[in-house]
Amino acid sequence: MIEVMTKVMDFKKFFTKEKEVNDALNTERIPLHIAIIMDGNGRWAQQKQLPRAIGHKSGVEALRDVIETSSSIGVKYLTLYAFSTENWNRPVDEVSTLMKLLVEYLKKEAKELHANNVKINTIGDISRLPEVAQMEIHKAKELTSNNNGLWVNIALNYGGRDELLRGIKKMCSEISMGKLTIGDIDEDLMGNYLDTANTPDPELLIRTSGEYRLSNFLLWQLAYTELWFTNKFWPDFRGSDLIEAIIDYQNRHRRFGKV
Ligand code: FPP
Repeated sequence: MIEVMTKVMDFKKFFTKEKEVNDALNTERIPLHIAIIMDGNGRWAQQKQLPRAIGHKSGVEALRDVIETSSSIGVKYLTLYAFSTENWNRPVDEVSTLMKLLVEYLKKEAKELHANNVKINTIGDISRLPEVAQMEIHKAKELTSNNNGLWVNIALNYGGRDELLRGIKKMCSEISMGKLTIGDIDEDLMGNYLDTANTPDPELLIRTSGEYRLSNFLLWQLAYTELWFTNKFWPDFRGSDLIEAIIDYQNRHRRFGKV
């Protein structure tokens, strides 16, 4: 507890001009799991008449800041939409830039993430990623496997529909082998066949760039998640914006279908 409080104090130092905002944060009610659709890298670059690749590169800065803040305030799980099953339809150059950025990011940051007790995980079918990316992912997962601080799920070649289909196919094959019966299927069991098995559903979803849709992200898991949108493009998003979203979340009344 003292360790957490010290971290919160450290983190508060970064935000003197948002003092009132930070004072409004209830550190006892930090969401356990936050999911983020990091959108707007391309438009951010376009606005500045820069190549889209620079937008993605600047997006990594935002990622760094958000991971640091999440870790310091005690968020337990952070799930980040980095590359969707639909993103393969982008120009080959852009796909290659994104893959290179991922490899660079893991090569450069895995050690520091490990030093900060962050556990790295992925969701999505990573078997379609370039081998070098798969290798770096594997190394980062191995290195951080015993960490019990912030758990960062990077969604790569991820689509909510694809995840459900893979889960359902696995379930059907286990039924045909007699390992499972139809009667065993309920919501908890379905959850165990998803890439997010053993992870609680996100309490809060953030999407940047002024778009208001889910874009095939965590379709099952977001059933009762609170949604928060901002017009900021992802490269401009910082820990202070995350805090703003959390404060807004903390002021909502979640009813889960009840009165
Ligand atoms: C959406 O912006 C963003 C992406 C498709 C990629 C997200 C990637 C990063 C934040 C950086 C790399 C990530 C890692 C894990 C190293 P967009 O390109 O769709 O922007 P637009 O809608 O303005 O075109």
